[in-house]
Amino acid sequence: MNFTLSDVKLINLPKIEDPRGNLSIIEEENHIPFKIERTYWIYDVPGGQVRGGHAFKNQQEFIVALSGSFDVVVDDGINKYTYSLNRSYIGLYLPVGLWRQIQNFSTNSLAMILSSTQFSGDDYIREYDEFLKYKR
Ligand code: TYD
Repeated sequence: MNFTLSDVKLINLPKIEDPRGNLSIIEEENHIPFKIERTYWIYDVPGGQVRGGHAFKNQQEFIVALSGSFDVVVDDGINKYTYSLNRSYIGLYLPVGLWRQIQNFSTNSLAMILSSTQFSGDDYIREYDEFLKYKR
């Protein structure tokens, strides 16, 4: 499938509010539409640094700002949209085949990424020109 920006979704996760502290939940194939094969996180990002800047052929992902804030710029080869994530109970679902870059990290921000696949370098499209060809 050739996914576009209209397939990207901000998903509100359950938030159990409690005077002792709040609690949120992610269940695979329930709150997010895939099985989780891998979890990784990005942290200690120096000011002004940019992560990502590539697309995946097979990996769907779900990105949550567990702490602090950052922007995810998503590009389907025609349109671009910047999602600002800054709540630990709202995540961004990305289907396969979209270019994405993560930037504007706040101090001490923590980006958690749930992935539908195990790591494979072959799944990356790292050249933007190659991405545009792939989308055609
Ligand atoms: P990469 O996804 O390229 O991050 P960015 O696009 O922000 O530069 O990952 C950086 C390095 O980490 C790269 O050498 C691959 C390695 N890596 C793994 O070994 N396993 C993983 O699950 C991930 C996400 C990255």
